[in-house]
Amino acid sequence: MNSSATDFLPLNGTDHIELYVSNALQAAYFYQVAFGFEPYAYKGLSTGSKEYESYVVKQDKVTMVLTSPMKGGTAAGLHIDKHGDGVKAIALWVDDAEHSYKETIKRGAVSNFEPKTIEDEHGKVVLSSIKLYGDTIHVFVERKDYKGVFLPGYKAWNNNLKTEPVGFKYIDHMVANVDWGEMNTWVDFYKNVMGFNQLISFDDKDISTEYTALMSKVMSNGNGRIKFPINEPAEGKKRSQIEEYLMFYGGSGVQHIAIATDDIMHTVSTLQSRGIDFLTVPSSYYEVLQERVGRIDESISQLAELGILVDRDDEGYLLQIFTKPLQSRPTMFFEIIQRKGAKSFGKGNFKALFEAIEREQAIRGTL
Ligand code: FE2
Repeated sequence: MNSSATDFLPLNGTDHIELYVSNALQAAYFYQVAFGFEPYAYKGLSTGSKEYESYVVKQDKVTMVLTSPMKGGTAAGLHIDKHGDGVKAIALWVDDAEHSYKETIKRGAVSNFEPKTIEDEHGKVVLSSIKLYGDTIHVFVERKDYKGVFLPGYKAWNNNLKTEPVGFKYIDHMVANVDWGEMNTWVDFYKNVMGFNQLISFDDKDISTEYTALMSKVMSNGNGRIKFPINEPAEGKKRSQIEEYLMFYGGSGVQHIAIATDDIMHTVSTLQSRGIDFLTVPSSYYEVLQERVGRIDESISQLAELGILVDRDDEGYLLQIFTKPLQSRPTMFFEIIQRKGAKSFGKGNFKALFEAIEREQAIRGTL
């Protein structure tokens, strides 16, 4: 593990996630109504932003920026044309955005933009940015001298919509799907350029079904707050979910955002009542669950009713469930996760989960 003395890139946490979407107004409504995000900040024509409109929604520590272009031919518009709605920026909260930029560039990062200071009457923020897999970027956000809402250039935004939070706490991890042969390139990037450690490695024998396979390595920063699993497809009899993603997203990108909750039963039952669809596993999964994971606090019949999955490691257990894709293309989705001691990622559920995805792929005609 990195000690703080050698951590050249101290990260306080995820600052926000920015998605490029084709209709930010409607996306914001969706994330408010369905997922209980609260309105937070806005920029657009009324704030002097002529090219882009952004709605920022927030639930506890999870902040999402939904951005759409206001005219043709913009970088965001081209991004949406190529990728559909998806994650453009994973913004990381740092104490020194210039230092973060210099240290990562020195170690081989490709610049997206140099450190810049933006300010308004509430103070200043320093931003810098480096390129990631595909068209995805990291933005370093230094906000210690800022007292305003979100970022300079935004105004506080509220609407009359009564939203009820679903218990989202923070981003537990974010997963990338990268192209054939690129997993180790990005593992090395996180190791060498960002100073991350590799937590776990899964090969195609760990993650395979009768038909499809993938490989995955989990990278974590020095203080363990940021975790990025990186997936790559592996050879199988049929087209894997990773290949399906790469095909529809037009290359590498963010596959899922895992959001932590303290009460997954409440979170999932609320989301289901609001029309969010989740992947389901056969009832046989629950028949052998007790045997596989031992004693747990939750009732297995309730878990089965909601379709929540359970896995155990040496330190405890975790509960998790995956939504179906959240936009027209079968690309990005959410994971809801509740950790009860376990620090792992649900290896025991991989097979059941991937078979569930294969059933969805078969319906889509993309297996
Ligand atoms: Fe995950």
